[in-house]
Amino acid sequence: MVMNSLTVAALFLCFLAPADTDAWCYHDPSCSEATWPLLGHNYCNGTQQSPIDIVSAHADDDSDLMPFIFVNYSSTSALKTIENSGMTVKVSLHSGITVSGGDLSETYDSLQFHLHWGNGSAVPGSEHTVDGKRYPMELHIVNSESSCNRNTTLAVEDSTGLAALAFFIEEMPDGVSQEPASWRNLTSYLTSITNSGESVSITPGISLDDLLVGVDRRKYYRYLGSLTTPPCNEAVVWTVFKDTIKVSKDLIDLFSTTVRVSNSSSPFMVNVYRNIQAAQEVKTQPAEP
Ligand SMILES: *[C@@H]1O[C@H](CO)[C@@H](O)[C@H](O)[C@H]1NC(C)=O
Ligand SMILES: *[C@@H]1O[C@H](CO)[C@@H](O)[C@H](O)[C@H]1NC(C)=O
Ligand SMILES: *[C@@H]1O[C@H](CO)[C@@H](O)[C@H](O)[C@H]1NC(C)=O
Ligand SMILES: *[C@@H]1O[C@H](CO)[C@@H](O)[C@H](O)[C@H]1NC(C)=O
Ligand SMILES: *[C@@H]1O[C@H](CO)[C@@H](O)[C@H](O)[C@H]1NC(C)=O
Ligand SMILES: *[C@@H]1O[C@H](CO)[C@@H](O)[C@H](O)[C@H]1NC(C)=O
Ligand SMILES: [Zn+2]
Repeated sequence: MVMNSLTVAALFLCFLAPADTDAWCYHDPSCSEATWPLLGHNYCNGTQQSPIDIVSAHADDDSDLMPFIFVNYSSTSALKTIENSGMTVKVSLHSGITVSGGDLSETYDSLQFHLHWGNGSAVPGSEHTVDGKRYPMELHIVNSESSCNRNTTLAVEDSTGLAALAFFIEEMPDGVSQEPASWRNLTSYLTSITNSGESVSITPGISLDDLLVGVDRRKYYRYLGSLTTPPCNEAVVWTVFKDTIKVSKDLIDLFSTTVRVSNSSSPFMVNVYRNIQAAQEVKTQPAEP
C-alpha cells in the first residue's frame, strides 16, 4: 500500500515536473531569461554561467591546451537530421563521431550541433562575445563524455560531462573568397523545417570538416561554464575558437527570414541567444615565439 502510493506519487512528479520547468523562451516577458530561475530552472542564476564576454588580454597562457583529435569529422554521412525546435535549428549526428585531446579529460561523443543568431546580418546574435564584439551567428557542437553513453541527463550531473565547441560565423569579405558549398547545402533544408517540430533527413554529402571551413582549430579559448539554455547546468567545458567561419550575407539572412518559432502564422525565429553572464577565468595557448 505504502509502496503503491509512493510509486503513484513518483509517477505524478515525473509527469508534472517537465511540464512545469520546460516553459522558457527568449522574448516573451513571462518566460524570457530574467525569469528562467523563477520558472524552476534553478541553475540559471548560478555563478558559473554561459555565455561570457572573453577579454582576450586577460586570457591566461596554458600550454596544456593542445590540439584536438577529431574522429569522423571528415565523414560525409555524419549528419543525420535537421530540426526546427522552436528555439534553434539543430542537426543531430550519427554515432561514431568523437573529439578528444585539447586538454579534455577523456573522449567525448559529438551528439548534435545547433545555431544561435540575431536578426539577419544587420543585428548580430552570437552568444559569446570577444572584447565586447558580438558576431552575426554562433555554432555549437555539443559533445558528451563517452562514459555517459550519449545520455545527456547523466552527463549534466558531472561538472565536465559536456564539452561544447563554439564557432563564430560572420560575413565573408566581398569578392575575396567563395561561399562554402557546404553551407549553401545545409541551409537549403531550412525551407523544409519552417515550423517548430519539423525535422528532415540530411542527404549524405557534407561533413563537419566542410562546415568548419577556414578555422584553425588549434587556436581557441577555454573556460568552464554552463548550458546557455534552461536548465543551465554548470556542466560544460567550453572551447571558443578564435577563427571564424565565413559565409555570405544572404546566407546569414536566411535564418531570420525562413524558420518560425511555431506555426506558419507565428513570428520568425530572431535573436535566439542568451545575454552575457558574469566573467570566468579564461585560458588560451601561449603566443608563439
Ligand atoms: C536564484 O533563483 C532562486 C529562485 O528564484 C532564488 O530563490 C535565489 O535566491 C536566486 N539566487 C541568486 C543568487 O540570485
Ligand atoms: C566513423 O564512422 C563510420 C560510419 O560513418 C564508422 O563505420 C566508423 O566506425 C567510425 N569510426 C570510428 C573510429 O568510430
Ligand atoms: C528583424 O528585422 C526585420 C527586417 O529588418 C524587421 O522587419 C523586424 O521587425 C526585426 N525583428 C525584430 C524582432 O527586431
Ligand atoms: C540516462 O540517465 C539517467 C540518469 O542516470 C537515467 O535515469 C535514464 O534512464 C537514462 N536514459 C537513457 C535513455 O538511458
Ligand atoms: C545538397 O543538398 C541536397 C538536398 O537539399 C542533396 O540532394 C544534395 O545531394 C546535396 N549536395 C551535396 C554536394 O552534398
Ligand atoms: C499558431 O501559433 C500561434 C502562436 O504563435 C497560435 O496563437 C495559433 O493558434 C496557432 N495557429 C494554428 C492554426 O495552430
Ligand atoms: Zn547553443
